[in-house]
Amino acid sequence: MTEPSWLSATRASYDALAADYAAYAAGDLDDRPLNRAMLTAFAAYVQAAGGGRVADVGCGTGRVTALLHTLGVDAFGVDLSPAMVELARRTYPDLRFTEGTMTELDLADGSLAGLVAWYSVIHLPPERLPEAFEEFHRVLAPGGLLLLAFQTGDGVLHLDEALGHEVSLDFHRLRPDHVAGLLDEAGFEVRARVLREPEEERTPQAYLLARGRGKA
Ligand SMILES: C[S@@+](CC[C@H](N)C(=O)[O-])C[C@H]1O[C@@H](n2cnc3c(N)ncnc32)[C@H](O)[C@@H]1O
Repeated sequence: MTEPSWLSATRASYDALAADYAAYAAGDLDDRPLNRAMLTAFAAYVQAAGGGRVADVGCGTGRVTALLHTLGVDAFGVDLSPAMVELARRTYPDLRFTEGTMTELDLADGSLAGLVAWYSVIHLPPERLPEAFEEFHRVLAPGGLLLLAFQTGDGVLHLDEALGHEVSLDFHRLRPDHVAGLLDEAGFEVRARVLREPEEERTPQAYLLARGRGKA
């Protein structure tokens, strides 16, 4: 089956950006205490629920996977871009990173204690979000935890150039209430919604923490 053009374009764009992305995103977890706090809280909830495997979906260079690992979580990364996965493997040789797409994860039903999608669902056309959330729910064990981070708002920011590279990337802004509604429909109970005003970003940032309800 041929894949949709938005998926090929996203993959090719991040392949082009990979080498420069690590430096671009370097300070994001250290300089933005709330980002780190959300991931730290997520790790604590996973551990309080007994631990288990956690997927960092759209892991990019692997920095979030690595932070979760440092926090004692059994984390691994999945990303669409082979160049990102290769970079993550080189940077964190002790951690596991695989290629994959979030709407079709190569993971067994109920096999995860947690899943983080940190600024990655923003690249899905919004009409594909329900499919991704159903996939997240499928791979999580009942009660499993989900953490999403995304830029808020309406519409899409399209970039033809980024970090000096030619790309074709869509960043879909999302409304937290809308995303929370979709999570509910996909079988999640939303446990926390945090909205942070922009620091150097263009829009407020949202973090949603949700817990999977038992399968019907
Ligand atoms: C903005 S970057 C964020 C990377 C990482 N989460 C971080 O914060 O450093 C978005 C990442 O999501 C990945 N991505 C985009 N669409 C994806 C999809 N459908 N499935 C898996 N990964 C995807 C991209 O390749 C890219 O590495």
